Parts: sequence; C-alpha cells; structure tokens
Amino acid sequence: MSDQKPDLQVEAARRAFESDFERFVPFRKSVSPGTLSLSRAEQLARELGELRTRHAGKKAALAACKKLIGRIQPEERASFGQLVQQAEAAITTALDEVEGSLKAFIEVARLESESIDVTIPGRRPRAGHLHPITLMRERIEDIFVSLGYVVEDDREIETDFYNFEALNIPEGHPARDPQDTFYTTEGFALRSQTSTVQIHAMQRRGAPVRMIAPGRVFRRDTPDPTHNPMFFQVEGLCVDRGITMAHLKGTLQEFVHRLFGPETRTRFRPSYFPFTEPSAEVDYSCFNCGGPGCRICKWSGWIELGGSGMVHPNVLRAAGIDAEEFTGFAFGLGIDRTCARIYELDDIRLLFENDVRFLEQFR
Ligand code: FA5
Repeated sequence: MSDQKPDLQVEAARRAFESDFERFVPFRKSVSPGTLSLSRAEQLARELGELRTRHAGKKAALAACKKLIGRIQPEERASFGQLVQQAEAAITTALDEVEGSLKAFIEVARLESESIDVTIPGRRPRAGHLHPITLMRERIEDIFVSLGYVVEDDREIETDFYNFEALNIPEGHPARDPQDTFYTTEGFALRSQTSTVQIHAMQRRGAPVRMIAPGRVFRRDTPDPTHNPMFFQVEGLCVDRGITMAHLKGTLQEFVHRLFGPETRTRFRPSYFPFTEPSAEVDYSCFNCGGPGCRICKWSGWIELGGSGMVHPNVLRAAGIDAEEFTGFAFGLGIDRTCARIYELDDIRLLFENDVRFLEQFR
C-alpha cells in the first residue's frame, strides 16, 4: 500500500491510465473507414482489453483506492468517495467508447472481407481429356476387340528369359543390340518390346489364342524426332491350327482399313526378327496423299506400321505350345509414331513434354 495521500493516489491512477490510453484517444468517437486494416483493428481491440484489466480490474490502482474509502476520516469520506467514483467513471467511459468504435469498425471490415462480388465472371473449370497416345491406343484396341482379340496387360520389368531367351534371342545374339534396354541392379530388364507378352499369354492361355498387348517399352535409343528411350507398342498374336501368312496379311489389311479408311493398302517387305520366320515389315499407303507422296509420308507414298511374321516354332515351344499342331502370326506396332503421323507431328518427343497447350489440341 502506498504512503501517498489518498487523493494523490487517485490522481496517480488517473494519470497512469491517461498515459496508457493516449494512443486510443483518436478512436473515442469512431474509427474512420480505411484508417486501419482489419487485423490491426483486431489487435487494438485485444490491447484495449488488456488496458481495461490493468486500470479498471480487481488489481488496478483504482481498486486499491476504493478499498481506502472505509478508512478515511468520516468528514472527508464522502468527497473522497466522489473523487474515486469520478475517476472510475472517466476511465470506464473512455474504455467503453473506444471499445464500441473498434467493434463497429471490425464488424463492417469483416463483412466487407467476406462479401462476394456476384458480378465478377466465374472461373470455368478446365475439363481434362485423354492423352493422344491413350486415344490412339483405345482406337487400336476397339478395332482388335471387334475382330475377336482379347486385350492383355502385363509387366514392364522382365527377366532375361521373357525379354530375350524365350523370343529366340539367346545370349550373345546380335539381335540383342538394337533392343538393348535398361536393367535394374538385380539384373531385371525393362522390356524392350511388347513381344514379351506373347510368351506370358501363351503360357497362361495355351492355344488357340488371339490377343493384343498395348504397353510401354524401353530401349537405349537416343531421343530424336522418331525415337524415344520410352515409347508405346501394341503387340498382336494369333495362334491356332492352320494359321498362315495369309491370315496375317488379311488381319493387318482389315486393321488399316478400319483405322485409316477402306482405300488404304498394305505392303509387306521381307525383314528379320529372331522370333518370327518368315518376317516382314508392314507399310500402309499414306492416309493423306494415298500414294503420290506428300510431307506426311516423306514423299514415299508409304508409312511404316511395324514388324510382323509367323511365330517361330522355338517361341511356341518356349511357351509350352505344340509347334507341330499349332502355327501363329504376330505383329508389333509403334503407337507413338502412328500417333505422330495421324496428328501430323514432326517430332514424337512433343507427346511427352506435358505441355497442356500442345496436348489439348488433340481430344
Ligand atoms: C519390334 O519391336 C518387334 N517386337 C515387332 C514385332 C512383333 C515383329 C511381332 C514381329 C512380330 P521394331 O524394333 O521394329 O520391332 O519396333 C516396332 C515399332 O516400334 C517400330 O515400327 C516403331 O514404330 C516403334 N519404335 C521402335 N523404336 C522406337 C523408339 N525408340 N521410339 C519410338 N518408337 C519406336
């Protein structure tokens, strides 16, 4: 308890309040719009609450003065009581006024910050769409499914047996070179062609079998306009009794008719794949010029579709099929290059740059 005279104690309490309150004085009447941010006004309201506790609370200097009233000489008690009451009234009025104007300001500012301008044009949700390679794959799948083929999906990481051995490409065979791929540290190969699925499908389904297998494949090819180290192929396989090269030609002829139109022609060029004998590269007449030559077919009139041939008996045997009873044909097409031709792209790498402005042209 202070040794000061009681009325001086009241005066000191009042002064202390006025000094602390000084920065709130401009807000006694109101807070003019735009003078404070919402967060600043909220902070000031919190600080004002602290001021109220300090100067008008139970432990305030003024509360101590009130307790003195009973100890004052009776003749001075009334006037001292009045002094304390006046000081208390002045302090609480000042606090109440500022609290009121801050509250009103905060309420308006909050409403404004939460209000929605219904006249602002809305943001259109951007509808996604399938990647051109997926669109191409689905078109190919639809055609073969309608010809009675099942769609097989299989693993991308393979053992040496499925990627090479079972496809009649033993260790040291030169055909491993152009099909060289990436290996895991455990020695598994990222498949370099979808032909691996031929073996899985024949092992799983036996013969007869008619399937296509679209999927991702990998090769150690340096990227250029027609090569990527990762690309997509579709494998086709048909094994049954009495299957001949004529079935292969008829099937691929029907396929290009349905994909590019009934006037499209095919041509087969002798080729070599270790897993087919005989083997052929398949070309189709250019869907753009129909033969005379144009930019799309590089002025040759023909576009390469992929490789094909009659399944080598060693491959049938590796998959557990009786090569005396069954024969079959197989083919493998590159989806990326076919897609690039159809959409007239100069470079297949564009398909993997994930530039939405480019991709959304092909829906
Ligand atoms: C094969 O991969 C054989 N497995 C195809 C086959 C299947 C033959 C069944 C016989 C029987 P080739 O290596 O030619 O064949 O590749 C086939 C197609 O894949 C090519 O015509 C081409 O369209 C595509 N291709 C090959 N390498 C790349 C590459 N680096 N980038 C993009 N496409 C490629």
